[in-house]
Amino acid sequence: AEPANLTATGADSGAPANARAQQDAWLTTSQGARVRDTDHSLKAGERGPTLLQDHHLREKITHFDHERIPERVVHARGAGAHGVFVGYGTADTVTRAAFLQEGEETPVFVRFSTVLGSRGSADTVRDTRGFATKFYTDEGTFDLVGNNIPVFFIQDGIKFPDVIHAGKPHPDREIPQAQSAHDTFWDFVSLHTEAQHHTMWNMSDRGIPRSYRMMEGFGVHTFRCVNDAGETALVKFHWKPRLGVHSLTWEEAQLLGGIDPDFHRRDLYDAIEAGAYPAWELGLQVFPDEPDQMFAGIDLLDPTKIVPEELAAVQPVGMMVLTGNPTNFFAETEQVAFHVGHLVPGIDVTDDPLLQTRLFSYVDTQLTRLGGPNFSQIPINRPHAPVNDMLRDGFHQHAVHVGAAPYRPNSLDGGCPFAVEGDARAMEDLAVRVAESTKVRANPASYDDHYSQVRQFWLSMSPVEQQHIIRAYTFELGKCYEQAVKERQLQCLANIDARLCAEVATGLGLPVPDATLELVDAEPSPALSQVGQEWPSD
Ligand code: HEM
Repeated sequence: AEPANLTATGADSGAPANARAQQDAWLTTSQGARVRDTDHSLKAGERGPTLLQDHHLREKITHFDHERIPERVVHARGAGAHGVFVGYGTADTVTRAAFLQEGEETPVFVRFSTVLGSRGSADTVRDTRGFATKFYTDEGTFDLVGNNIPVFFIQDGIKFPDVIHAGKPHPDREIPQAQSAHDTFWDFVSLHTEAQHHTMWNMSDRGIPRSYRMMEGFGVHTFRCVNDAGETALVKFHWKPRLGVHSLTWEEAQLLGGIDPDFHRRDLYDAIEAGAYPAWELGLQVFPDEPDQMFAGIDLLDPTKIVPEELAAVQPVGMMVLTGNPTNFFAETEQVAFHVGHLVPGIDVTDDPLLQTRLFSYVDTQLTRLGGPNFSQIPINRPHAPVNDMLRDGFHQHAVHVGAAPYRPNSLDGGCPFAVEGDARAMEDLAVRVAESTKVRANPASYDDHYSQVRQFWLSMSPVEQQHIIRAYTFELGKCYEQAVKERQLQCLANIDARLCAEVATGLGLPVPDATLELVDAEPSPALSQVGQEWPSD
């Protein structure tokens, strides 16, 4: 029965199978031979030396020596949970994705994370949080790899290594672990002013969530959906927590960092153990798929911009409930591999240049992190849909493929026994667009406004929230050694709001600069100010 167990299509349940481990009552070697003594090595006499011929000793030590795998290059620290997603059927007019149909139940695995700290860093730091969901749908796996902040630091993926190099600890001292309390972070965001929007969300209470259970999630990019009739729409994904959005105070976050660095991980685990299952509603903002891909003057391909909910309401399309903790952190939370390119029919990518780079990056990093090209066979990564690919061999190949060489058409193997559902039209469209386009290395002019949404965010905050933001900027910037960096960031704040800038400058003991840009009047956006918002309890 063993080979059948090991085929690439072997996934059956949400929890990974425990094949070929912990069977039977005897301690064995990896080859199944019973071990007589695992506490003493084989020696030439009581006082040694130790003999090379002790296979059990060598196997035990060698395997231990290789237990660690590289941590994720970003989002290294995380916590995961299993659950189920149920579609409402309300997305049918927008997408033909089957898992969104009414009553359709799909197993999910979610991993929450911080971005910049290492695997052992504290949970309660000021940082963006990852919110990645793997939907094991009948049509293949769909990964929604989002964050708890709706915008991103950069507009083009080619700058991702740069922003992460700036945010990670300095290479000489490897400090600080915290995201923003250092020169290179502020140097980057004040020189790349498109980062100011994400930065202010980080400085707000959103940067120190109370619990993973109380965070929103955002797909950030605009995606393209296709319905049964072949009509397309542009879409942004939102997760709304049933418990509302809540944050820690700065003082709580500092204390918890010392008292319980595992605070968020523990909170998620304990809540699920206690049966207080966290739940989120999935919602869509839907926009017409116009050729310019703009909506209300906002460029939908610019990941540093939101579309305020007053302009496009978030329409609920399903509910996710997390009901199960991982049984093995390494097998599930550590080895899970998300990818923005894991899509299902009815959901597609757009040309957002950040998203386009992500399509390349995830599988590339996982080839190293998970040791070769077969990590989709690791139990947590196995699709629940049948798999019949033409990928063969490679490190850690677990499938025992049969038949002649996999190529199509194939006259030796019954014509290669599977059909291909070609989307010829999409390929033709792409070919036409590529042929018609001129190659450029530049951003469109619509990407140039770096301040008006930041100001809108600031104005939407309550006085208490504004005070928290002022204190956060003052504290984090106060950790910089470079005077010029602080001054440049104050200049950015002057372009956002004069009072914000003045209060931070006073806190830092620095002169208040004048704005270099004319401040555009911005209306506060009530939908942005959701920290502390209450949901009706059920
Ligand atoms: C993880 C690259 C932008 C959300 C990662 C990883 C890489 C990466 C290499 C590690 C993956 C792994 O080891 O499995 C990039 C690049 C980006 C980008 C190149 C921009 C060009 C974003 C954005 C978001 C995001 C905009 C949110 C919308 C995440 C999340 C994880 C992650 C949630 C953790 C997934 C997990 O829990 O395993 N990213 N990223 N990333 N990224 Fe990105």
